[in-house]
Amino acid sequence: MSDIISGLDARMVLDSRGNPTVEVDCYVGGNLLGRAMVPSGASTGAHEAIELRDGDSSRWLGKGVDNAVNNVVETIQEALVGMPVDDQKAIDEVMIELDGTPNKANLGANAMLGVSMACLHAGAALHELPLWRYVGGVAGGLMPVPMLNILNGGAHAASNVDVQEFMVMPHGFDTFPEALRAGVECYHSLKRELKADGLLGGVGDEGGFAPNLPANEAGLGYMVRAIEGAGYSTEEIGIALDVASTEFYKDGAYHMDGKALSGEELSDIYASWVDEYPLLSIEDGFAEDDWRSWSHCMRDIGDRVQLVGDDLFVTQSERLSMGIDSKAANAILVKVNQVGTITETLETMDLASAHGFNSVVSHRSGETEDTTIADLAVGTRAGQIKTGAPARSDRVAKYNQLLRISNEVSEYRSPF
Ligand code: PGA
Ligand code: ZN
Repeated sequence: MSDIISGLDARMVLDSRGNPTVEVDCYVGGNLLGRAMVPSGASTGAHEAIELRDGDSSRWLGKGVDNAVNNVVETIQEALVGMPVDDQKAIDEVMIELDGTPNKANLGANAMLGVSMACLHAGAALHELPLWRYVGGVAGGLMPVPMLNILNGGAHAASNVDVQEFMVMPHGFDTFPEALRAGVECYHSLKRELKADGLLGGVGDEGGFAPNLPANEAGLGYMVRAIEGAGYSTEEIGIALDVASTEFYKDGAYHMDGKALSGEELSDIYASWVDEYPLLSIEDGFAEDDWRSWSHCMRDIGDRVQLVGDDLFVTQSERLSMGIDSKAANAILVKVNQVGTITETLETMDLASAHGFNSVVSHRSGETEDTTIADLAVGTRAGQIKTGAPARSDRVAKYNQLLRISNEVSEYRSPF
């Protein structure tokens, strides 16, 4: 069977927020072997690779992706046809060179990532391997600890809660399916608790409940009630937060709970939360360029809690290197569309593990039924994945793919 890319196709499809996104098909020897869809963020970091949008406000509120689709079927296809589909590094390098900008502004990270992922799928199909094994090779897979975002706030909800994500992290279980079951039962338990308090309304962009709360700390209280109400102890299920604080950092201060806080004051609040709650992980506790506060917090509580850089690192090795040098965090969030190719994603993850950083593979708030990140998390042995609440198929699709993979991969180990 030919291993040569014979063509690419691309089209606009819709994401979970009703916005256009890019889908790419990869043909090998005339056969359709790989297809992938690109995710999209809302609390997007300033240093992320550029998502190319048409900007024509009379169509799709300016969010059309016709130009990105054209870049795939014209410029990128022309450059990639004839290349072996299983040389992922060469494919991604050709696109990076073709784009010629540091932030993929020319071709668009959405166009490039769609191609990169479709080729990854096609390479796996060519070798008749499950995607996770094609990614992982001889190292074999590791099932990740799931982080389920069951209470949504920030830019993903219409509530008064500043913290973007309150996640349960079922770390004290022997297998992935058991951990997932526990996390899902906490979701149902939270629903009961919120209903009992008259706070049950709709859900946010990632499927978690989105109540108004008297203060952000009350969200932590509800998480404990959800865990204990489901019959579990906080020894086996912890809490992870994504504060996404860049969103409320203005004029040098963090605006939370109606107060303007310095980085040090906010760090003290996190320290008190770590003392009082089973809080295992804090993502984007500080803004994307506030390196000083990140390092201060690491010195203060970095030995007791996972501090995850999302907007801070944007899955890019240059930013991660800065964080390693300044001891700004001890973990990195991995979002494929922040950097725009699979090869660069894997390079960043290698750099992280070489320096003892944990990796958390992540979805975006705008998602599709694409499940590539489930296989990526297993194949890279990342150890952790966050992909929303167990609600709505754009989130559940990833958990279901992990359940399928768990039939073949039993290794499961908590980083905590
Ligand atoms: P986003 O949110 O996809 O809207 O950026 C996810 C996150 O911040 O981790
Ligand atoms: Zn985040």
